[in-house]
Amino acid sequence: MKEQLNAILLDAKNQVENSQSEADIEALRVKYLGKKGELTAILKQMGSFSPEERPKMGALVNEAKQELETLIAEKKTELKSAEQLKKLQEETIDITLPHKELKVGKLHPLNTVLDDMINIFQSMGFDVVDGPEVETDHYNFECLNVPADHPARDMQDTFYLAENLLLRTQTSAAQIRTMETRKPPIRVICPGRVFRADEVDATHSPVFHQIEGLVVDKGVTMCDLKGVLEQFAHEIYGSDTKVKFRPSFFPFTEPSVEVDVTCSECGGKGCRVCKGSGWIEILGAGMVHPNVLRSCGIDPDEYSGFAFGIGLDRLTTTRYKISDIRLLFENDKRFLDQF
Ligand code: PHE
Repeated sequence: MKEQLNAILLDAKNQVENSQSEADIEALRVKYLGKKGELTAILKQMGSFSPEERPKMGALVNEAKQELETLIAEKKTELKSAEQLKKLQEETIDITLPHKELKVGKLHPLNTVLDDMINIFQSMGFDVVDGPEVETDHYNFECLNVPADHPARDMQDTFYLAENLLLRTQTSAAQIRTMETRKPPIRVICPGRVFRADEVDATHSPVFHQIEGLVVDKGVTMCDLKGVLEQFAHEIYGSDTKVKFRPSFFPFTEPSVEVDVTCSECGGKGCRVCKGSGWIEILGAGMVHPNVLRSCGIDPDEYSGFAFGIGLDRLTTTRYKISDIRLLFENDKRFLDQF
């Protein structure tokens, strides 16, 4: 029996040694140590030994069982860690592979110019306010001294959404909303999109951007308007830029002016950009009409104010030498990547 035991043990050790997986080893455990296993079977032969031999043989079989159990347990752990290692190696990421090109977003040139303008006006003490793009006739025209039958309505081709509802044609509507909710002294700018039913070409778009400015206080004069606009022009175009006021007409300002600056391209000598005049028109402005102040509950005998409306798109195209306003709205990445 001793020989049989040794033969089984040797065989078992060999097989454990050569097993390749946890499943193999489990099968071996059942084969030798399980209820119907080969070593277990040997124990069942005990009955054929004499009472003196039985304990010795029992001890031998138990020793063999224990040896095999330890061996199996060791092999199991060994196989387990080998399998884990293999899995880890298969799942590693090759960090030396070139990555897909990451596209970094940039500010749209309109936003860059707008940010500059906001900084300039904030440094002069202006607050930034917001107004709705869908406006009522009341705020866009009525309160701005443009009653229904006023010929000035023809100055701006309006997109109507319903009888009294429209897409704002000018940020001037924000003047009224501000004066209704704030008490003088008022010093605000309102940047935003405006809409007019214009034909699209290199210099016109049905959607464009304005920045409205409004100052209302006691004793505000045209000199203050000129000072603020000159300061603005110097900061945007450089300190040798000259500013020119031309008489003009807007229903909500009196007197009204259009403001030109010396052409930044030729410095005022005359070139293609300024069509030979040396000047570029950048905004409309004027002293707030007494009727407008009155419609907002501000006494024109006590208070006065000025307002201006700057076209943001023209400022942007001249600064970056962009030849066609449509480029600002097409969202072509090849264009935007250049800024
Ligand atoms: N709202 C005028 C326009 O769109 C510009 C303007 C604003 C003029 C404020 C005077 C004062 O043409």
